[in-house]
Amino acid sequence: MSIEIKHLPKHIGIIMDGNGRWASRQNKPRLFGHRAGVETIRDIVKLASKYQIEVLTLYAFSTENWKRPKAEVSGLMKIFGEYLRKEIKELYSNNVKFRIIGDRDPLSARLKDEICKAEKLTENNTGLVLNIAVNYGGRSEVIYAVKTIAQMVVDKKIQIDQIDEKIMDKTLFTEGLPDPDLIIRTSGELRLSNFLIWQCAYSELWFTPVLWPDFNEEVFMEALNDFQNRKRRYGGI
Ligand code: IPE
Ligand code: IPE
Ligand code: MG
Repeated sequence: MSIEIKHLPKHIGIIMDGNGRWASRQNKPRLFGHRAGVETIRDIVKLASKYQIEVLTLYAFSTENWKRPKAEVSGLMKIFGEYLRKEIKELYSNNVKFRIIGDRDPLSARLKDEICKAEKLTENNTGLVLNIAVNYGGRSEVIYAVKTIAQMVVDKKIQIDQIDEKIMDKTLFTEGLPDPDLIIRTSGELRLSNFLIWQCAYSELWFTPVLWPDFNEEVFMEALNDFQNRKRRYGGI
């Protein structure tokens, strides 16, 4: 399998699914799977830098994931805090620009503070942009954008006729970033589950039955290789 650097996706989004099933198959609690999933995140962030990917967006927790049992939700938040505390220095020294996308309001004050610190520390880094989607939902992101734009109209900053895709793009969490070229979903589910629904309009989708804790360089290369053979037409011929 050969990878041509010049035909790589600039922005990859990953729906990291299957941690729970990975754990259940070993008769372990679901949180064991989530912890294993963090190890994969570590590896994939390094690989994304290695392959000179510009932006990596990882779906970690959706606006719908609050429906899960309390213990799983609080376990996930705890794991996320631990990840930040452990990894941020290394992300910083690897020139990664770390950002959270999603509504952080309902997160604990401590976690919000850690997120702020991590974003601040890495804001001038020029390497990989790493977005972690936490309490993220594509629909709520679009609603937030619509409200922001409506307010701009009310304040007479713009007129209704000026509302276009550019303004929309500027109002989303992914402001200033290219749309994802490639979306990967692990665990065999064939859906987007509310991930980047506006930005995915022309993304290439790639699905694998591999569960997130088992995702590795070989599978990642398989996805990149497949991407390189896609013909992107954007409605043209
Ligand atoms: C993905 O793994 C991680 C999160 C959604 C937080 P799941 O927890 O959805 O794992 P499965 O789909 O139940 O196996
Ligand atoms: C999508 O996975 C969300 C994340 C990976 C964070 P889910 O496991 O929540 O999605 P559904 O419920 O199978 O659609
Ligand atoms: Mg799942």
